[in-house]
Amino acid sequence: MSATHPAVVTVGVGQPLEIHQVPTIAPEANEVRIRVEWTVSTPLDLHQADGGLLVNPPHILGSSVAGTVLEVGPDTTRLRPGDRVFGYTFRQKKERAHQLYVTTPETMLGKLSATGGFDIRQAVVTCNNFVSAWHTLTHDFGFEFPWPKPSGFVPRELNDWILIWGGGTSVGQYCLQLLKWYGYKKVLVTASKHHHEKLRRYGARQCFDYREGGTAQRILEAVQSVITGDTPVVPFILDCVGSQQKSLLPIAVIAQSRAIVAVMLPVIVRDAAVDVTPEYLMDVEKAVTWQDGVKAVGVRTHFYQKNEFLAQNLQSVVMPEALAFGTIEPNEYLEVGGANLLERATNALSKLRSKEVSGARLIWRVAEPET
Ligand SMILES: NC(=O)c1ccc[n+]([C@@H]2O[C@H](COP(=O)([O-])OP(=O)(O)OC[C@H]3O[C@@H](n4cnc5c(N)ncnc54)[C@H](OP(=O)(O)O)[C@@H]3O)[C@@H](O)[C@H]2O)c1
Repeated sequence: MSATHPAVVTVGVGQPLEIHQVPTIAPEANEVRIRVEWTVSTPLDLHQADGGLLVNPPHILGSSVAGTVLEVGPDTTRLRPGDRVFGYTFRQKKERAHQLYVTTPETMLGKLSATGGFDIRQAVVTCNNFVSAWHTLTHDFGFEFPWPKPSGFVPRELNDWILIWGGGTSVGQYCLQLLKWYGYKKVLVTASKHHHEKLRRYGARQCFDYREGGTAQRILEAVQSVITGDTPVVPFILDCVGSQQKSLLPIAVIAQSRAIVAVMLPVIVRDAAVDVTPEYLMDVEKAVTWQDGVKAVGVRTHFYQKNEFLAQNLQSVVMPEALAFGTIEPNEYLEVGGANLLERATNALSKLRSKEVSGARLIWRVAEPET
């Protein structure tokens, strides 16, 4: 085993990415070490590289891995060398995704062979926001998602409207599909028109093109006929965009007393762009003026493991089964090229910065293909 391996790191706000040699960590207890073949660049990588969000550079980027198990710790029970796996791994240096080898507990990985035939690239685009969607809907909205789903399951909130602002985002697409699986029927989304057909197939009752303007008013008009008693018109609102101006402000018009508004953090005050340093907020309550009685919360998927069932099962059991059962289909993806690790990571970040891709994840190779 080599003593060190290459990792992609951000060294400071807006600085070019660098490759650093970092220690290769042998697995202990229930950990495994994997050779990372594919990863994803997500908006969080951009928030961290261009905005320094919650990082202390030099910081290894990335949180989605797919690859092959090379060695296992003494207490592993599920994974063996040679298993192909995928997972959302993010907590410590040795787990972050944009490096050649990752060492992480086997509970944070699903087996590719349990997905019912999905390709490793489809698997790698699933993990991060499948976990985010599950965590948000169960933790922040309190929805009950028993797994496996009992036959005849009917959700408690069957008669409540749910609004997903940004249904075309990666996390929005998984939220919609999970809601459909559990029988929710009153889900509204905002998204560009070119996503509407797909989002209807994922269970959206009505899609609103946010680019047409007046979206908050149009949504209120669509749901107002069903007001009963003092129930807020839309009791559950999920903001998958988190833009102070473009999503929180219109949502603040819609959200009435007792509504829960869950915002995928960070709140974006100024978005990253070429030669623009982004600005973020983490306090959702202060980001806009909410109507009295609205409960606005910031989503932090990084804490999903506080739920012991999810810590043990969400990635290792539920995630591959959700693919195999057809609960979810993976996001579309675009493969980012480049002559080496640094070039591929840099190219992916640049595509995120310039917003040139819509509705698809950006994936790239970490290890060079074996010849
Ligand atoms: N805190 C957490 O736990 C957590 C977890 C996951 C994600 N996040 C955050 O959630 C955000 C979304 O992440 P993601 O990976 O799902 O994003 P993504 O897939 O990269 O989202 C891009 C999509 O956002 C849509 N969009 C942009 N502006 C919009 C607007 N004003 N209204 C509606 N849709 C708009 C665009 O859709 P169109 O093509 O329709 O224009 C675009 O395709 C990021 O900021 C990310 O960091 C936070």
